[in-house]
Amino acid sequence: MRGVFITLEGADGCGKSTQASLIADALEASGREVVRLREPGGTPISEKVRALLLDPANDEMVPECELMLYEASRAQLTRQVIEPALARGAVVLCDRYYDSTYAYQAGGRALDDALVRRANLLGSCGVVPDRTLVFDLEPAVAYARATAGGADRMEAEGLAFQERVRDAYLRLAAEEPSRVRVIDASGERDEVAARALAALEGLL
Ligand SMILES: Nc1ncnc2c1ncn2[C@@H]1O[C@H](COP(=O)(O)OP(=O)(O)OP(=O)(O)O)[C@@H](O)[C@H]1O
Ligand SMILES: [Mg+2]
Repeated sequence: MRGVFITLEGADGCGKSTQASLIADALEASGREVVRLREPGGTPISEKVRALLLDPANDEMVPECELMLYEASRAQLTRQVIEPALARGAVVLCDRYYDSTYAYQAGGRALDDALVRRANLLGSCGVVPDRTLVFDLEPAVAYARATAGGADRMEAEGLAFQERVRDAYLRLAAEEPSRVRVIDASGERDEVAARALAALEGLL
């Protein structure tokens, strides 16, 4: 028996982590084993790679190094955690997976499109999500959420970057409409969760 692999995607602050909790609760209430993961991380090695990626002291990191660290973290998580969980029939709910790498490294950082896709194939060990939910939100709204009433305005460059990330996600959804579903992430948390669960119907 094979489980179900669901990934949650979208730009910073769109509500992925919030929705991961709500979706996990709903699936667990229906009696499924849910394995909740977030990338990068999820294994001892992957957490060490995460620390490298998130360390502000590593601001000299070049985009190619960043790409390969994400893939390294992912390969370990896929082989060590995701594949065994799917093999025993669990629902794997992963907050970010290779579509994030496409959106940020090919979209945001403008690395070569084909090269990022090949890297994703390696890093994911060929394990493709059964369904991917892209939580779509105006970058300015996502920023307002993330700063929760803070007064800072988004820098022009930051906003352009987030727009490229969003566009890359929407390209993926157009390319793979049966796997990648765009979820309107505006409105109340429960409204968004209802849309997300509707997009998982027939899968579980
Ligand atoms: N529907 C919503 N309406 C208003 N605020 C929300 C909504 N969903 C989440 N938030 C809030 O917005 C902020 C960002 O949400 P969350 O952390 O879930 O986003 P994320 O996509 O996981 O962000 P990141 O990419 O930084 O991990 C949090 O403070 C969260 O409580
Ligand atoms: Mg999050």
